[in-house]
Formats: sequence, C-alpha cells, structure tokens
Amino acid sequence: MPMINGIAQPAISEGAKGARCSDLETPALLVDLDTMEQNLATMVRFFKGPVKLRPHFKNHRVIALAQRQMEFGAIGVTCARLWEAEILVRNGITNVLIANEIAGETMVKRFVELAGESPVIVAVDNRTVVNDLTFMSRREGAEVNVVVDVDLGLERCGVKPGEPALALARTVVERGLKFRGLMGYEGHLQALCPGEEKDHEVRCAIGRLIDSKCMIEKAGIPVDIVSCGGTGDFRIAGRVPGVTENQAGSFMLMDSWYEPFAPDFKPALSVLATVISKTPGERVVVDSGVKALSGERGLPTVKNDPALRLKALHAEHAVIETTDSSVSVNVGDKIEIWVRYHDGTVHLHQRMYGIRSGAVEEVFEVEH
Ligand SMILES: Cc1ncc(COP(=O)(O)O)c(C=O)c1O
Repeated sequence: MPMINGIAQPAISEGAKGARCSDLETPALLVDLDTMEQNLATMVRFFKGPVKLRPHFKNHRVIALAQRQMEFGAIGVTCARLWEAEILVRNGITNVLIANEIAGETMVKRFVELAGESPVIVAVDNRTVVNDLTFMSRREGAEVNVVVDVDLGLERCGVKPGEPALALARTVVERGLKFRGLMGYEGHLQALCPGEEKDHEVRCAIGRLIDSKCMIEKAGIPVDIVSCGGTGDFRIAGRVPGVTENQAGSFMLMDSWYEPFAPDFKPALSVLATVISKTPGERVVVDSGVKALSGERGLPTVKNDPALRLKALHAEHAVIETTDSSVSVNVGDKIEIWVRYHDGTVHLHQRMYGIRSGAVEEVFEVEH
C-alpha cells in the first residue's frame, strides 16, 4: 500500500475510474468536477484582460490540474516550495514563480540548477540570499530571475514597501541578477467579508506595492511583474492599475471556511468516510479523523445532511452527533464531510478522486 507519513493510503487509483463514488475505500478525498470546473471558468473569465492569472499550486498540488489551468489561459504557475517548482518544470510547466523565500546553500544551489533549465522566478527579501544567489549563479553560469517580496501588511516575509523595496531591487541589479519585478500577498485581508471596508483595505495594501513599483521605475529599473492577490480579493486586486498578475489558488477547489469571503466560488472538496460505529440516539463514528481532514480552521460539517453534526475529530475518527431522531445512518453507510481547510487537507492524501454524477471520472495524483 502507498504510504504518506506512515499512513497507509487506499490502493484504488487509476482502476477506480468509472467506479461508483460510494464504492471507494475510505477515507477518500473527492472533488466535485462540475463545481471545480465552474470555479475555474469564473476565474479565467475575470482574468481575460491585461492582468493575468498565475494560480497557486499549493492549494491542489496536482500536475494535471495545473496543466488544465494553463490550457484555460493561466500564464504560469505560482508555488511556495522549490520542490514544487522542480516538479512543475519536470512536467513541462516552465513559467513558474516561487512566491516565497528560499535560504541556505543547498536550496540556493538547487534553485540555480533549476534556473539553468528554465526561467523560474524566486522571491527575495534579504541581501544574504541575494548574495548567495549571485555567488551560485556565477559559479553555475545560470541566469537567475528574482522578484522582490514586499510586505503589504501580512507581516510574514517581505521587505517594507517604498525605500527598502527600492534598495533591495538596486542590490539585485548591481549583483547582476535579473530583476523581474515585485510581489506581495495581502493574505491578512482575504478573510474580510466583501464590502466597502475590504475594498478600501485591499486598495491601500496594493497601493503600497504600486508606489514601490513607481519608485523603482523612477530609479531607472524596469518592473515587468507586479504579482499579488488571492481568492478572497481577486476582484479588487485584479483591477488595480499597475498590477500585472494574480496569485490566487484556493478558488478552484475551495473549502467551507473560505466560502463566505469568496462568494464567487463554491466548495468542491469533500472527504468520503464510512460509519464504523453507532451508539443509537447519541452518535455515529466515521473512519476519518485529523489524518484525513484538517480541523485547524474549525470542525468540518457533513455534506447533504445538516442534522448530522460533527462533534470531534480524533486522529483516525470523527464523532458525529445523532440526537435528531429523524437521522438514520447505520454502520457501513458512507457519508461526505466538507473539507473546511483544503490547504491543510489535500497533502494528507495520495490522490483526489474527480467525481461527476456519483461516479469516479478522474483520479488525480497529489504531489508530495
Ligand atoms: C504568497 C501567496 N500567494 C497566493 C496565495 C493564494 O491565495 P488564496 O488562497 O487566497 O487563493 C497564498 C495563500 O496562502 C500565498 O501564501
């Protein structure tokens, strides 16, 4: 049996195509293909104009889905990790932005080796890595593309907007690396409900990125790329003049936590689970705990049956209250549980089953 983190994964894979969804071994990660395709179509339609879509890979980690996004008009792929960029390039997706920092000799060397194969871009926010990239790119004779990461208020990575962004851009150019532009991720604003306040906050945050771009251009350094945005604010971020591309990722699979903040998209992901125990009038227990479902953003809910209320997630079990006497679930029944936090769930699975009309139409391998 294939294993992830020592956890045995269902053996059914390609052979599952055509099977009834309810016949899958559980826990199984399901994606509703109609919903996923609708989500993708909505996003692609929005980015038909001058601002382009470069969707984030970390949200699904499926090469076939990244390829589908490219076929539908994405200009490239955003990712968080060097290994993700390596896998994407190996599979023919060469326009990759690592919207994250790398550090340390091993990672810098691997990045420069990858840069020798393909014009992958990496975010930088400090001189240490700029110097390491410079040293390694000279040694390997590879051109290295970078964007300067600007902190737009998330307070994670990134230099401060304005002077610090300009200073780092200058260093990049002086060292002979290829300065491509700027990125920033206003992640702290994604979970605001749509409305005037969100509109204002997002415009202010991205305004800081655009001001930095203008300063850098005034200093005579061309800025080709200005990348930002997520699923919760794509309509705002994607229309700010000066922005060239958007890094949204959650929109395609979506989860029930994100849904209120991004009403254009519907959750497509669920986990199929089997009832393995029943205490009549009290509870049933299913075989999907935190090793199959993230509880990090709150307890997931049961799909298609609001009377079944998830009470607890254990490692291998979810406990579901059945005090409502109208509920009839029995040992051996299968139920679907909405994925509440897909970023914390997808990587727990080896594969994702694409479901249409109750049958498995596609089997997607999840990269690890
Ligand atoms: C740097 C970066 N860009 C883009 C995204 C994707 O944003 P979203 O999940 O809102 O679509 C993330 C998500 O965490 C991110 O960290």
